[in-house]
Amino acid sequence: MTYLELYNSAVGSLENSGCDSPEYEIRELLSYFFGFSRYDLSLKRNDSPDEKSENAFLDSVQKRCNGYPLQYILKSWTFMDCEFHVGEGVLIPRDDTEVCVRECIKLIDKKHMQSPRIIDLCSGSGAIAVTLGRRYPEAEIFAAELSEKAYAYLEENIRLNHTEKNVKPVKGDISVLYKNFGDGYFDVIISNPPYITTDEIPSLQKEVQFEPKLALDGGKDGLDFYRIICEKWLAKLKKGGIISLETGEDQGKAVSSLLISHGFPNVTIVKDISGLDRAVVNNE
Ligand SMILES: C[S@@+](CC[C@H](N)C(=O)[O-])C[C@H]1O[C@@H](n2cnc3c(N)ncnc32)[C@H](O)[C@@H]1O
Repeated sequence: MTYLELYNSAVGSLENSGCDSPEYEIRELLSYFFGFSRYDLSLKRNDSPDEKSENAFLDSVQKRCNGYPLQYILKSWTFMDCEFHVGEGVLIPRDDTEVCVRECIKLIDKKHMQSPRIIDLCSGSGAIAVTLGRRYPEAEIFAAELSEKAYAYLEENIRLNHTEKNVKPVKGDISVLYKNFGDGYFDVIISNPPYITTDEIPSLQKEVQFEPKLALDGGKDGLDFYRIICEKWLAKLKKGGIISLETGEDQGKAVSSLLISHGFPNVTIVKDISGLDRAVVNNE
């Protein structure tokens, strides 16, 4: 097949599978498999790839039609201008997470924290910890993660983004790791924890079913990890320190109530561009 035939047939297949942005995704795959830049499809439309590359491309289109995430095929994704390696076993960084990171940055800057000590709980790929590490070279950032596979990506992404000096990965369960740190140790606690209710998970879109359940499952009411953070970690925050937690789209009130009942009365629910709850921060 020529590149143009491959492109048209792949876009058609992906469209039929219910994908929202088939042209964009197939262009990404052309770039990944054939090294195409933006104009190569028109320049090389009547050429053909070798059989091996064509088969690899077609296999990946088939996988994509079955819901396998594009980001896992590309093995890499961008979050807030940093590149992250991703694959099975680690959550793909989401644009939603920018909200809690941007709020956190606003507060760090407002408080003129020069070298904040930060912990990113449930760090996954390191999207949050590494982004903050790039922004604050003088900060001391800990990135806590339980999953073996995700932890390997976390270590890799710290190296990839040259943040080894100020981002330290910590392997373990956040309901135990808190014991390693003294009270009042951190200036900032930030987290995008698992927050989907257990019952909701099977009904999530097919792409999400390929992502690790450990990264999604927030227990019966989705709030298990916010309880752990409130009960075990808030004591580790310095007076006047910053809390920035990503939440599900209807969890703002519940997470705020948890923070209020644990001694943080001044909290704000931050909405995303669609007007949905996306983060809760303290604004003392
Ligand atoms: C929603 S993902 C967030 C990943 C990353 N922070 C991000 O924003 O892309 C939650 C992460 O928490 C990790 N996790 C789940 N239970 C944990 C626990 N008890 N202790 C530490 N990490 C945990 C999962 O493996 C997953 O990487």
